[in-house]
Amino acid sequence: MNAIRIDGKAMAEALRGRIASDVRLLQNKCRVTPGLAVVLLGKDPASSVYVKTKARQARAVGFNSRQYLMPSNVGEAELLELIEELNADDSIDGILVQLPLPAHIDRWRVLEAIDPAKDVDGFHPYNVGRLAAGRPALAPCTPLAVVHLIKTVARDLNGLDVVVIGRSNIVGKPLAVLLGDAGCTVTGAQLQTRNLPDLCRKADIVVAAAGCAGLVRGDWLKPGGIVVDVGINRVIDSTGTAKLVGDVAFAEASDRASYITPVPGGVGPMTVAYLLANTVYAAVLRRGLSLVTTPETPDISRPSLVGKNLQSKG
Ligand code: GUN
Repeated sequence: MNAIRIDGKAMAEALRGRIASDVRLLQNKCRVTPGLAVVLLGKDPASSVYVKTKARQARAVGFNSRQYLMPSNVGEAELLELIEELNADDSIDGILVQLPLPAHIDRWRVLEAIDPAKDVDGFHPYNVGRLAAGRPALAPCTPLAVVHLIKTVARDLNGLDVVVIGRSNIVGKPLAVLLGDAGCTVTGAQLQTRNLPDLCRKADIVVAAAGCAGLVRGDWLKPGGIVVDVGINRVIDSTGTAKLVGDVAFAEASDRASYITPVPGGVGPMTVAYLLANTVYAAVLRRGLSLVTTPETPDISRPSLVGKNLQSKG
């Protein structure tokens, strides 16, 4: 088997094109420009790259894009004050505080201070609860991206067996909810799960989100299965060069699976695209606009606005 690569970079570009046209529609019909505020504490190189990418792509689709770069020793009170300002600012629809935060800051106090209506990360307990209850919610971007990527190669998810390795609040737990809602039988696994290779071999789809380079080997996979690699691990190769690899042993897995996402160029670009989609969704919900699905543009993955026409209520 020579697995087909699922090209997340190209799909993200297509998604951003549709988001940009949704933004034009919002501007022309409703005089609304979605606004995204991204907050970063400190200068961690990886986080700085992520934040810059998010802000640049937000600008490129036509958002009002703002970046707040604060020193790593900023006090929690000052950060909470900024969040209060952004909550009250009507031109801002989405607020993202880049994680991880410095040790002296209580992450939950910060995440819970964000207005749930502007919580484009989907991390606020209000949105976590709404998602779990099957109510419309802002859902975390990486799980939305994973479901979108899977749906492009397996249109009907009903009845499929999925193993999700990793139970983080950002990926594993919300992904299990979304896949369950889509009709999958989901096993939430982790590194210490007994017989993990056997469990994976029985699954139609394996999603690796454990943060462990090369964890999933080729012989862990069902022949013809689908593998989605959420891992982003920096490793030093045999020539002493640093490179990014996923949680899946790519070459081995490609010999066994039918579809595989690469790292980089798979889930990562789609995650940023879903941040933009969530911001448009938040802009629409906050203003009480209604959405009309058109038959030629089916809903690919909630809660994306993609493929919808906008109407003012009433
Ligand atoms: N750090 C790593 N992934 C994420 C994410 O999806 N959102 C935020 N806010 N921080 C992150």
